[in-house]
Amino acid sequence: MDVLVTGGLGYIGSHTVVALAEAGYSPIIVDNLCNSQAWIHARLEQLAGQAIPFYRVDCTDRLALAQVFEQHPNVQAVVHFAALKAVGESTRHPLEYYQNNLGSLLAVLQAMQQQHVGILVFSSSATVYGEPEKLPVTETTPLQAPTSPYGATKAMAERIIADAVQANPQLRAMALRYFNPVGAHPSARIGELPQGTPNNLVPYMTQATRGVVPDLKIFGHDYATPDGTPLRDYFHVVDLACAHVLAIDYLAKAREGLPLQFVNVGAGTPVSVLQVVETFRQATGQPLPYRFAPRRAGDVEAIWCDATLAKNLLGWQPEYTLADALLHAWKWEQTLGEQEIPA
Ligand code: NAD
Ligand code: WQD
Repeated sequence: MDVLVTGGLGYIGSHTVVALAEAGYSPIIVDNLCNSQAWIHARLEQLAGQAIPFYRVDCTDRLALAQVFEQHPNVQAVVHFAALKAVGESTRHPLEYYQNNLGSLLAVLQAMQQQHVGILVFSSSATVYGEPEKLPVTETTPLQAPTSPYGATKAMAERIIADAVQANPQLRAMALRYFNPVGAHPSARIGELPQGTPNNLVPYMTQATRGVVPDLKIFGHDYATPDGTPLRDYFHVVDLACAHVLAIDYLAKAREGLPLQFVNVGAGTPVSVLQVVETFRQATGQPLPYRFAPRRAGDVEAIWCDATLAKNLLGWQPEYTLADALLHAWKWEQTLGEQEIPA
């Protein structure tokens, strides 16, 4: 089955393209390279062992997107990763986030409708839950008002998709709500490529270990958690990639069931920042110095998921441990320092 992957050269998209190929699907990548590098494409073809069409197209460009669909009339499913995802940046440039994230989703849905493509897997986020009162989070946990324009684009996107499936009986969708995907492909051939100083914890840790950025600052250790640092649900990006393959398997087979399913994807285990640091030190043998700093605005104290639905509906559960993910992240980071990366 041909599967169109928007944002397919990005962090999660690239790992999903490899997982799709390994599962026998034929991925086709659309990416405008606003937050990725073209040389990742060749790496994906090497890892997949097959040619993978790539179109440098902005998903908000309806005409260009329609042309891609027309060149691949056998596309039966879309995985839509393409979006801007930096929470802080979204508060500084809200209109760019609404334009890009909602404009690309609308264009993708319209192209799917025109080409009669009936399966959509969408990248949603735990951010739609805000700061939940009750933990762990299940798919019936009430959503909270978004605390950033980025989070608002995810909540609005879920509503847009709900209305689209309501109006189009041929369309079936699954919104995967990711918690904290981390790590890199075990081959160290692909991984996270933050542009500029990383906002996220793990790429900051690996860059600090490589000496690219100053020592790790832990944002706050006066939270009401066992060691005072916030709790999150970290899990391997390759496990997340596999969840997308299982989601397509499910949507391709399911004839009954809800036309739109929301599914949490995470390890289901709360881990603190200090525990991530300790796990990283043990997994890599690297010292990773850190110091405590004030809390970061917008951070929630604790959030992790109950991933029972992913297990029961998709047969998904994480195969890798956090230590695996952190070691793979470090192996990938080391390659970024060793050679001139091809442009
Ligand atoms: P990423 O930035 O690495 O990948 C996104 C890709 O989409 C990039 O390659 C970028 O160039 C591309 N892109 C962005 N706008 C585009 C457009 N208009 N047209 C074509 N390509 C476009 O991000 P990621 O971490 O891989 O995230 C992928 C998706 O998962 C995003 O929708 C993000 O919001 C969501 N998500 C990520 C996380 C996380 O922790 N990384 C957590 C929850 C949800
Ligand atoms: C994790 C923990 C920080 C960096 C974000 C987005 C979310 C989603 C995933 C897109 C927090 C602490 C971090 C550092 C630190 N992205 N930290 N020092 O904030 O859980 O989620 O990425 O959908 O929308 O909000 O992930 O990796 O930024 O932070 O102490 O230098 O690490 O305070 O407790 P977060 P994160």
